[in-house]
Amino acid sequence: MNQRVMTLDEFTIQELRNYPGATGQLSGLLRDIGLAAKRVNVEVNKAGIADILGEAGKTNVQGESVKKLDEFANDQLINSLRTSIYCCGVASEENEDFISFDDDLSRNSKYVVLMDPLDGSGNIDVNVSIGTIFSVYRRLSPNGQSCTLEDFLQPGIMQIAAGYIIYGSSTMLVYATRRSVQGFTLDPSIGEFCLSHPNMRVPEESDIFSVNMGYYYLYEQNIQRAIDLFMARNAGDKVYRHRFVGCMVSEIHRTLVQGGVFMYPAFGKYTNGRLRLCYECNPMSFLMEKAGGAAIADGSRRLLDIKPDELHQRIPIFIGSKKMVEAIQREIS
Ligand code: AHG
Ligand code: MN
Ligand code: MN
Ligand code: MN
Repeated sequence: MNQRVMTLDEFTIQELRNYPGATGQLSGLLRDIGLAAKRVNVEVNKAGIADILGEAGKTNVQGESVKKLDEFANDQLINSLRTSIYCCGVASEENEDFISFDDDLSRNSKYVVLMDPLDGSGNIDVNVSIGTIFSVYRRLSPNGQSCTLEDFLQPGIMQIAAGYIIYGSSTMLVYATRRSVQGFTLDPSIGEFCLSHPNMRVPEESDIFSVNMGYYYLYEQNIQRAIDLFMARNAGDKVYRHRFVGCMVSEIHRTLVQGGVFMYPAFGKYTNGRLRLCYECNPMSFLMEKAGGAAIADGSRRLLDIKPDELHQRIPIFIGSKKMVEAIQREIS
């Protein structure tokens, strides 16, 4: 019998039936993020013809030059979350400070969202995959009041949900809750995300490693040794494939499906690595752990245990298949 695939909404409603204590607020929030993602997707798909390629002519708080699509995605997501009745505030890679939604309904919502509205923006102009990353926490401040900075500076282990959208050869939304990781593919004919990758699990090991090799000689020696684990020297050595897309969402999506490890170590001027703890590393680490993988910041720290000191903090990351991350950890500690 041909079974009809479930849409994101149908799936989250089914989940609610299975967990009677649930209020449906997280499902509502995911739906609102999914809607914003569909709007961004439309723009990404016509980027070449809609005068949306190129620079916006500004520099963001990270010191990066902002692209028009960075700005568009940021605005779409913030507007959706502002309209949503399930979110009381948002922090974004593109905004210096967090934004508190101060209407009566939003002030009474229990969730805050942190996001990288457009990841891999260096790939926009060359038609290579880009993405969006999001992270959801329960607020610490009392309902009914404006949210506070502390609501956003919780360790990753406190996440309620996290996920990404990949605008690739197809558009997918993948999210993790404390229970599982689920993947949905956008069916353009009905404009809905449909469950295509239920209960995703990352292979324990594989033959792919991903790191920017251009900086190899700038990495510390222990990091070079970790990378050397995957470099064949003699015929007969295990051969690994090296991949580096330049978009964390793509690296993580490939890792989730095919296994492997993605690293972004510290080097040179990036004394804490390049990727952002709150917008990139925490959500991806939560998702990877829920899929059976692992993520560390260095030889001794599980990434999700780190309490952020500030919104735009950067952190080194080693993430992916459990056995490969463990092998790296032995080498760098
Ligand atoms: P963003 O576009 O959100 O600023 O993030 C880009 C990040 C990340 O996705 C990617 O892994 C990394 O930048 C690539 O940087 P380099 O090419 O400089 O190594
Ligand atoms: Mn950026
Ligand atoms: Mn990014
Ligand atoms: Mn970004």
